[in-house]
Amino acid sequence: MALCRFFALFLIHICLLWSLCLAEDPFAFYDFEVSYITASPLGEPQQVIAVNGKFPGPVINVTTNYNVVVNVRNKLDENLLMHWSGIQQRRSSWQDGVLGTNCPIPPKWNWTYQFQVKDQVGSFFYFPSLHMQRASGGFGSFIINNRAIIPIPFDTPHGDIVIMIGDWYKRNHTALRRALDTGRELGMPDGVLINGKGPYQYNSTLVPDGIDYETIEVQPGKTYRVRVHNVGVSTSLNFRIQNHNLLLAESEGSYTVQQNYTSLDIHVGQSYSFLVTMDQNASSDYYIVASARFVNESTWKRVTGVGILHYTNSKGKAKGPLPEAPNDEFDKTFSMNQARSIRWNVSASGARPNPQGSFRYGSINVTDVYVLKNKAPVTIDGKKRTTLNGISFVNPATPLRLADQYKVKGVYKLDFPERPLTGPPKLETSVINGTYRGFMEIILQNNHTKMQTYHLDGYAVFVVGMDYGEWTENSRGTYNKWDGIARSTVQVYPGAWTAILVSLDNVGIWNIRTENLDSWYLGQETYIRVVNPEQTNKTELPIPDNALYCGALSKLQKPEDISSATSIRGYTSKLLFTLMMLACAAMSILSY
Ligand SMILES: *[C@@H]1O[C@H](CO)[C@@H](O)[C@H](O)[C@H]1NC(C)=O
Ligand SMILES: *[C@@H]1O[C@H](CO)[C@@H](O)[C@H](O)[C@H]1NC(C)=O
Ligand SMILES: *[C@@H]1O[C@H](CO)[C@@H](O)[C@H](O)[C@H]1NC(C)=O
Ligand SMILES: *[C@@H]1O[C@H](CO)[C@@H](O)[C@H](O)[C@H]1NC(C)=O
Ligand SMILES: *[C@@H]1O[C@H](CO)[C@@H](O)[C@H](O)[C@H]1NC(C)=O
Ligand SMILES: *[C@@H]1O[C@H](CO)[C@@H](O)[C@H](O)[C@H]1NC(C)=O
Ligand SMILES: *[C@@H]1O[C@H](CO)[C@@H](O)[C@H](O)[C@H]1NC(C)=O
Ligand SMILES: *[C@@H]1O[C@H](CO)[C@@H](O)[C@H](O)[C@H]1NC(C)=O
Ligand SMILES: *[C@@H]1O[C@H](CO)[C@@H](O)[C@H](O)[C@H]1NC(C)=O
Ligand SMILES: *[C@@H]1O[C@H](CO)[C@@H](O)[C@H](O)[C@H]1NC(C)=O
Ligand SMILES: *[C@@H]1O[C@H](CO)[C@@H](O)[C@H](O)[C@H]1NC(C)=O
Ligand SMILES: *[C@@H]1O[C@H](CO)[C@@H](O)[C@H](O)[C@H]1NC(C)=O
Repeated sequence: MALCRFFALFLIHICLLWSLCLAEDPFAFYDFEVSYITASPLGEPQQVIAVNGKFPGPVINVTTNYNVVVNVRNKLDENLLMHWSGIQQRRSSWQDGVLGTNCPIPPKWNWTYQFQVKDQVGSFFYFPSLHMQRASGGFGSFIINNRAIIPIPFDTPHGDIVIMIGDWYKRNHTALRRALDTGRELGMPDGVLINGKGPYQYNSTLVPDGIDYETIEVQPGKTYRVRVHNVGVSTSLNFRIQNHNLLLAESEGSYTVQQNYTSLDIHVGQSYSFLVTMDQNASSDYYIVASARFVNESTWKRVTGVGILHYTNSKGKAKGPLPEAPNDEFDKTFSMNQARSIRWNVSASGARPNPQGSFRYGSINVTDVYVLKNKAPVTIDGKKRTTLNGISFVNPATPLRLADQYKVKGVYKLDFPERPLTGPPKLETSVINGTYRGFMEIILQNNHTKMQTYHLDGYAVFVVGMDYGEWTENSRGTYNKWDGIARSTVQVYPGAWTAILVSLDNVGIWNIRTENLDSWYLGQETYIRVVNPEQTNKTELPIPDNALYCGALSKLQKPEDISSATSIRGYTSKLLFTLMMLACAAMSILSY
């Protein structure tokens, strides 16, 4: 008791003196055991990556300001890093789970992520970021709820439904990797999964017997929040629910102007929330469909995910043809206009209480302009590679952030060009020199015939414009300077550009990449390095105690303490106590 009281006083004392103290906010603990399991999503058994035996993995469901602790245990036969897509990891790229910031977790090892989710409310997901592992699974939903005192711009929904959609191959990620390594393309996927399951047999020619499909049960008359994530390899998907309106409410942490869609294109890596009211008469079940887009739909028919929306009072099975996808084969502006119609509800409080410094991003002066152009794959040194501005990124053996911390020289160059290079393409570890507190304009120019989506870690970006053709200075005249959506993943149409603005207020080294796994694997990424020139511990958290070491620093790595890694039960209160002590101690040391 006395110890407790002392501890409580100590805690309050610390927290009052230094309001940075993490411990005033609750903790949420997760244990993730990442392993292979056998599943047959498309009717044939294959090894998929599961988290705690589940495919997709469990939902992380927390409230903003929580400290999230995830102990990730690697039971795969290769290295692992778990990445928290769209989670901003404010002040701590140490927890981002990509090769530029973290040494990988070797097989049989575990590593504990700890980070605070702050200033974010919405729908995100996690996935393993190395070796194309996402193509075999390992993903799951990551929900951040509002605190009770922060209102949301719609009535509390009756329920929360997570739908993970994505193209899928019967070949596993190692086989897909081998294809890319030998210069081949991945080719047409074998199907689309909905929550790890194959399609409902809506057509016996296209869908074989005996496939387990996803069924979502709902109550008539109620409104649900349906969170949809495209976790696939490379295919843009059109999402729709037969006879139901999708009222768009949120995208990757920003509340949108609420509008009804009969279907929406969801590109690889993107997340949306829809409010769906079960207002039909339940004369039958309804189809939930995710079908391939921007491909020859007559040959890609089987690349269609079909699940079932089942009312509790349903009178029968879903039957007949699927609801139609947009018929826009000869109208390439249809999808882009739909994307432009997704706007930010600037009066909705809460999702992000304005870390960008101003809701009026249109009046902030731009400090740096980067045009990042990707092309069709090229051959460099006899290997097929993808590029940004003529540079194919090579991951260093020593992570960039770790190299900075230990002043290891020669790991990377801070010379990423502001415009595409004109010379021959090259392999480099070249990084963007970000200006701390600068306001960067990035134009993503897709000089390829395939759709690309781009993701920036650590930030939400304002999507201010997109159009076909080559971006020029004059294109700025078309920018949305008022209510462009703030999000982390944006699509760039083939032969088109997308412009984003970002306030570089989050210190760290942050990955900017294509989410299309094949292009990413072949080098279409880089990092933005954001350093506060002032020496302070306030804008970036110190390197975590459990940091792994590799590359030039591998000598610093202690062998894993196997004894402490054996039991994961019954440690919560002890660990909580220890973590709070550590957090407070660290913070108090830090503040001097
Ligand atoms: C992946 O598939 C290959 C065959 O293409 C097989 O040899 C390998 O064992 C598989 N890996 C896993 C982890 O299932
Ligand atoms: C591995 O897990 C154990 C508990 O199961 C924990 O005590 C230990 O700190 C973890 N190791 C790392 C590096 O996170
Ligand atoms: C925007 O948010 C406000 C405040 O929460 C809400 O009242 C309004 O209905 C929303 N507007 C639209 C168009 O979604
Ligand atoms: C997440 O948690 C909230 C509140 O604790 C709950 O209402 C919601 O149903 C949960 N969502 C999921 C998908 O588990
Ligand atoms: C099933 O799909 C095939 C191939 O697309 C098509 O020819 C056939 O008409 C479909 N059957 C039904 C019942 O819709
Ligand atoms: C969306 O559609 C529903 C019917 O499904 C309707 O009640 C609602 O008013 C529509 N909302 C908007 C913003 O158009
Ligand atoms: C139920 O709704 C469907 C589609 O709107 C309609 O075709 C059907 O006639 C309705 N059935 C009843 C029993 O109202
Ligand atoms: C789509 O594929 C079919 C079958 O291979 C072919 O006949 C058709 O011309 C293709 N359509 C387009 C627009 O390329
Ligand atoms: C932006 O730049 C213009 C001229 O270069 C200057 O007049 C204005 O004050 C600047 N605005 C801000 C917010 O700094
Ligand atoms: C990076 O940018 C800063 C200004 O933001 C500048 O002082 C520094 O010299 C740049 N570094 C390199 C290597 O260009
Ligand atoms: C790629 O860029 C070249 C040169 O600007 C242009 O002629 C070509 O149309 C572009 N292709 C695409 C798909 O954007
Ligand atoms: C930051 O914290 C570290 C320990 O975590 C300490 O060694 C260092 O001196 C601190 N730096 C400053 C500028 O406070």
